[in-house]
Amino acid sequence: TTTIRVSPAVLGFSAVAHSLADVVVVPEGYSVTVMTRLGDPLAAGVAAYKNDGTDTDYDKRIGDHHDALSWFGLSASGGVDAANSTRGLLVQNHENITQKYLHAAAPSTGARNEAEVIKEMNCHGVSVTEYNDAGGRKWSYKQDSTFNRRITPFTEMSFHGPAAGSAMLRTQYSPDGTKGRGTINNCANGMTGWNTYLTCEENYAGYFRRDASDDALRTTRELMSLRRNGVTSRSGSYSWSSAATTNTAITRWNATISSATATSADDYRYEMNQMGWVVEIDPYNPASTPRKRTALGRFGHEGAFVRIAADQKVGFYMGDDSGGEYLYKFVSNATWAAADANAADRLAIGDKYMDNGTLYVARFDADGTGQWLPLVFGQVPPRPASGTNYPEPYVFADQADICVNTRFAADAVGATPMDRPEWTTGNPMTGEIYLTLTNNSGRTPATTNAANPRAYQNNPGTGSRNNPNGHIVRIRETGDNTDAKTFAWDIYMFGVDSTDYPSNPNVNVSGLTPANDFSSPDGAFFSRSSNVGGQVNPLLWIETDDGAMTDRTNCMLLAALPGHVGDGGAVTIDNGGVTQNSIVGAKATAANLRRFLVGPVDCEITGIDTTPDGRTMFVGIQHPGDSGTIAAPGGHWPYTQDGSTPAETTRPRSALVAITKNDGGVIGL
Ligand code: FEO
Ligand code: CA
Ligand code: CA
Ligand code: CA
Repeated sequence: TTTIRVSPAVLGFSAVAHSLADVVVVPEGYSVTVMTRLGDPLAAGVAAYKNDGTDTDYDKRIGDHHDALSWFGLSASGGVDAANSTRGLLVQNHENITQKYLHAAAPSTGARNEAEVIKEMNCHGVSVTEYNDAGGRKWSYKQDSTFNRRITPFTEMSFHGPAAGSAMLRTQYSPDGTKGRGTINNCANGMTGWNTYLTCEENYAGYFRRDASDDALRTTRELMSLRRNGVTSRSGSYSWSSAATTNTAITRWNATISSATATSADDYRYEMNQMGWVVEIDPYNPASTPRKRTALGRFGHEGAFVRIAADQKVGFYMGDDSGGEYLYKFVSNATWAAADANAADRLAIGDKYMDNGTLYVARFDADGTGQWLPLVFGQVPPRPASGTNYPEPYVFADQADICVNTRFAADAVGATPMDRPEWTTGNPMTGEIYLTLTNNSGRTPATTNAANPRAYQNNPGTGSRNNPNGHIVRIRETGDNTDAKTFAWDIYMFGVDSTDYPSNPNVNVSGLTPANDFSSPDGAFFSRSSNVGGQVNPLLWIETDDGAMTDRTNCMLLAALPGHVGDGGAVTIDNGGVTQNSIVGAKATAANLRRFLVGPVDCEITGIDTTPDGRTMFVGIQHPGDSGTIAAPGGHWPYTQDGSTPAETTRPRSALVAITKNDGGVIGL
């Protein structure tokens, strides 16, 4: 097993204070460069973005709501050079849109305008963009690169793994259930050891419309599945399917069964089952068809951290971001073969490690151990009936059913309901896995558990008790092996507004101060192992998506020297007379946790990666200035980043930034 060593590394920057300014703030000695923004052209001949709502051709422009991102090094001849820190492909998710800023005037209502719908759909998905360093980390992107690509809700995808071809995936577009169109609500990501990108479909359910007539035509099984996965809207996000068009790529967002005599080959009753997956993309091959990996289950996929370790199976750690949902792991049947890192047919390697394996869900026990519970057909009991929404037990038909209705399977085996599982990441030196639990408005003192132990008032003395600021759990697999069936866990850190709770040990459990407090952890990232240099304990980076202390500061990025599972001890937390025992890590200090960056007004800090040398960090800034109106946006970033004062009507844009150290050093050290 791996020997966990102590860390000689130090955080080499001065902490950034709370900020409500409409700029990205970084420590003294660092610089911020705004890179690809919503609407920037990604092909030769595409006009510069006017940003007044009249732009077109969004399938050849950077999308909106920049989320997770990864850097893929590119060789001089246009092949894989994973170690290249001066030329690469920046692959980024575009999770959602700020609809009002995409159109010249208010968005159409009633039957939506088709051109507006196409624009809104194309702003979702993934972008692949070539970046180059002209020397000394002078970054620019290459508008006419042949590698540039937009993957959108219109892009053809193929299904792989146990649910491919299932009756539950069949549609008019794909009567055999093996292909589909596009990806939606792409949130966090994963980067495989064979140079492909994983994009994760999170809040897909809300995009679908089901009319009242649909309920009467569904079986009870189907209705229970739709409820459990939240496919309950009567309009669907942005009412896309209301457009008067024969284009089924648009009308398929209406998943209503078309008539009592129709079959799944006649309509889109199962289109929702085509979303909610982990999707593998080969960024080096712009002509490749992305593959949806059904073996990894279907739920509100936040991200998929991939752990590669010599002589082990490949592990994929995955959160399901909704209140009370679960942490999952998929383990390949195949043991990692180092030569696969250099394979030319990268998606075939994905077939090898992602189509055959075992899906598990986590149970966290009160003694600091945990179990990985297999979600394997034949081993999963029926999901019991509960309440009026689930009037009968859900009995699984086969492994495809478990893959499509993964939440039911996890319910049935007794997984631990968590406070909104967001990103997963792993310490590359030790294999310890970190899971952000962003917050949970539905947690109550009576429903706390050892791994989700806090329920308290956001503003002391007001409101109900829940978990408004979130926490971070970490696990260490038994034997440090991805294929372990058991693990040790503790709570690494609790978020809090330390001005409200400077010293209450039941709330500010980690001892945060205004210098390092945070709320609603979301993105999480370890420094790449390629740049740890003399360190044996790389830095952990934590990003926030907060609404609970945004009166005090905009969202942020922190850096930590993370320590290890078991470096703290047992605690009892008093949730207003209801106590909960838990296991927590060492307290935060000014030396081991510092705020590195604060974003502009209204934003969420999202994607994060560095070049392999660690000397440029890329960070996603999502939905800045989205609180206002077209006439008076809530903010104007990135037009404010250079210190200028934009016009009152200047529309903000999601963008990614490149952060460099003025002395050329490794970021954070
Ligand atoms: Fe898209 Fe759970 O954040
Ligand atoms: Ca978001
Ligand atoms: Ca997120
Ligand atoms: Ca979030």
